Amino acid sequence: MPPLFTAAVLLLLLLPIAAGQRFRGFSYLLDCGAENATTDSRGLRWDPDGPYVSAGSPSALQVQGLLDPTLATIRAFPNKPGAKFCYALPVDPNRRYLVRPTFFYGTSLPRPPAFDLIVDGTFWTAVDTADDSMAGSASHYEAVFPARGRNMTFCLGVNRNYTDSGPFINALQVIQLDDTVYNSTDFKSSAMGLIARTKFGSTGDVERYPDDSFDRYWQPFPDSKHAVSSTHNVTSADFWNLPPPDVFNTALVAEQNAPLVLQWPPIPLQNDSYYVALYFADTLDDSSRIFDVNINDYRFVKDLTVTSAGHSVFATQWILSGLTRVIVTSKSVLPPLINAGEVFGLFPIGRLTITRDALALESIKRSLQNIPDDWIGDPCMPHGYAWTGVTCHEGPNIRVISLNFSSMGISGSLSPEIANLTALTDISFANNSLSGSIPDLNKLSKLQRLHLHDNKLNGTIPQTLGTIQTLRELFLQNNNLTGAIPQNLLNNTGFQFLPGNNFSSIP
Ligand SMILES: *[C@@H]1O[C@H](CO)[C@@H](O)[C@H](O)[C@H]1NC(C)=O
Ligand SMILES: *[C@@H]1O[C@H](CO)[C@@H](O)[C@H](O)[C@H]1NC(C)=O
Ligand SMILES: *[C@@H]1O[C@H](CO)[C@@H](O)[C@H](O)[C@H]1NC(C)=O
Ligand SMILES: *[C@@H]1O[C@H](CO)[C@@H](O)[C@H](O)[C@H]1NC(C)=O
Ligand SMILES: *[C@@H]1O[C@H](CO)[C@@H](O)[C@H](O)[C@H]1NC(C)=O
Ligand SMILES: *[C@@H]1O[C@H](CO)[C@@H](O)[C@H](O)[C@H]1NC(C)=O
Ligand SMILES: *[C@@H]1O[C@H](CO)[C@@H](O)[C@H](O)[C@H]1NC(C)=O
Ligand SMILES: *[C@@H]1O[C@H](CO)[C@@H](O)[C@H](O)[C@H]1NC(C)=O
Ligand SMILES: *[C@@H]1O[C@H](CO)[C@@H](O)[C@H](O)[C@H]1NC(C)=O
Ligand SMILES: *[C@@H]1O[C@H](CO)[C@@H](O)[C@H](O)[C@H]1NC(C)=O
Ligand SMILES: *[C@@H]1O[C@H](CO)[C@@H](O)[C@H](O)[C@H]1NC(C)=O
Ligand SMILES: *[C@@H]1O[C@H](CO)[C@@H](O)[C@H](O)[C@H]1NC(C)=O
Repeated sequence: MPPLFTAAVLLLLLLPIAAGQRFRGFSYLLDCGAENATTDSRGLRWDPDGPYVSAGSPSALQVQGLLDPTLATIRAFPNKPGAKFCYALPVDPNRRYLVRPTFFYGTSLPRPPAFDLIVDGTFWTAVDTADDSMAGSASHYEAVFPARGRNMTFCLGVNRNYTDSGPFINALQVIQLDDTVYNSTDFKSSAMGLIARTKFGSTGDVERYPDDSFDRYWQPFPDSKHAVSSTHNVTSADFWNLPPPDVFNTALVAEQNAPLVLQWPPIPLQNDSYYVALYFADTLDDSSRIFDVNINDYRFVKDLTVTSAGHSVFATQWILSGLTRVIVTSKSVLPPLINAGEVFGLFPIGRLTITRDALALESIKRSLQNIPDDWIGDPCMPHGYAWTGVTCHEGPNIRVISLNFSSMGISGSLSPEIANLTALTDISFANNSLSGSIPDLNKLSKLQRLHLHDNKLNGTIPQTLGTIQTLRELFLQNNNLTGAIPQNLLNNTGFQFLPGNNFSSIP
């Protein structure tokens, strides 16, 4: 059902405190690094990010006179090369989400760090806020991602190629979209990164509307000569993308008998596939016009009839490269016009670690304490961003092949589910404070090295270790193990076995 926008507006005016509730489903407005919730000038409530993130440290910026209260606090993460630090947000696994982080370093000297954004194991983009920072403004990034499970992870990645100090974030919006919004994109294979969302005929500031269920930012377009305002009468629900009706209250109109020629989006694009949506509504009541629309030298749409009720056209995958020209010609008496447009770059959804391995690692993680702060998000992906100590093989399936958690100060016990990581060749938990017993590992038929020395493990050495044909190194010294060494282990020749000097029952 389309929402009742008029009612939503009234509610906003009367009850600004309830405004946060205008977002449906699982939606989040997080003020990163904040101690308490804050309400912005539009009456939207932003919650502290603490419940959704365990890494990083919160702090307040020493900047006076900020118009946006969510910029006043920041969460900063360690400069740990190859680590990704993630927010985990419960979502509806069948829906898609608009993800919009905001970055404001508060100073342009030293140069703000550049880093990567990753959503559920998919590399999204590199963040570089230096230019915005010089101009004294915040940087917004926006993309649309499908949920891939009950939690969505949004991560900041320390890229060893260009991150020179820890990543940071000021605010994060994650808003559940209605199923029809941008629905021509195949979200099984692609996500969309926003390039431009423009309200033509608007020459002021970026605009956001109370009746936009998804709080989209509409940028102005610098052409006041052809800008007109409109007696708009557009119903949002008539459009799959649910544009707010107010976006139709301005337009760019060409001179009589001339085509409307726009250089838009305003930046050169790399040669790739793009999603393009254009929105039109006749600015005059009871009027209509017929347009052809070309993008660069290609026909985008022919004989489009535009009335004051509005019309949108879109291309799911349109190849663009360099600067783009949009040309609208009128086949009717009245000149061509355009009200709004959106362009997104399409990029592939990345692969994930196989579920069995990811679940096993989650279970191992739950039975340990004092673990590294980047053990969150996909354990292997994207490439170069595996959890600290985890090595993966990216074959037909993405598998975990090695765990090297030596000397990490970890305590807790070894989950029996480690036996589900059947591609493992190496396990080292050497020099930690593990207690409890060694689980049955006989399903690990590729295991070559098992280093558990220098811990506080107790119980007996499992008989089944001797049945792992591939095992070459077994280091168990300096634990509190008891009982006999299984005969089948002693029989295995060409094999290094260090039971250790405090092992009490060597037969
Ligand atoms: C957060 O709220 C608590 C309780 O109202 C208050 O004591 C504290 O000073 C607030 N913190 C900030 C940073 O405003
Ligand atoms: C999902 O995220 C929430 C909040 O961050 C967390 O409490 C919960 O354990 C996560 N669930 C899973 C399955 O990771
Ligand atoms: C760093 O750059 C090299 C060379 O361009 C590339 O192969 C590698 O994947 C990059 N690393 C990351 C983490 O992006
Ligand atoms: C998008 O949603 C509309 C409205 O439900 C529907 O008519 C249309 O077929 C959908 N398009 C795709 C590509 O799923
Ligand atoms: C707006 O549309 C409604 C129904 O489509 C119509 O009754 C009304 O007269 C229109 N208003 C204007 C100003 O055109
Ligand atoms: C863009 O890439 C496609 C193939 O991916 C190629 O056919 C085309 O010539 C390229 N266009 C430009 C302008 O480089
Ligand atoms: C594990 O990592 C440590 C350093 O992080 C290294 O010294 C050690 O050789 C590694 N062990 C294995 C079995 O790869
Ligand atoms: C054991 O781990 C601790 C940190 O937990 C480290 O300081 C120490 O150097 C490690 N010892 C060896 C022999 O690696
Ligand atoms: C391993 O995975 C299976 C399903 O693949 C699951 O039933 C089991 O509980 C997991 N854990 C262990 C220790 O086998
Ligand atoms: C091993 O140690 C744990 C405490 O860490 C204890 O509860 C358990 O009984 C011990 N098991 C054996 C076999 O000694
Ligand atoms: C080792 O195990 C024995 C017998 O279970 C127990 O008495 C002793 O306290 C343990 N030592 C350590 C250091 O855990
Ligand atoms: C170990 O080797 C001895 C002699 O070669 C043999 O009798 C015994 O059965 C072997 N034990 C196991 C458990 O393989």
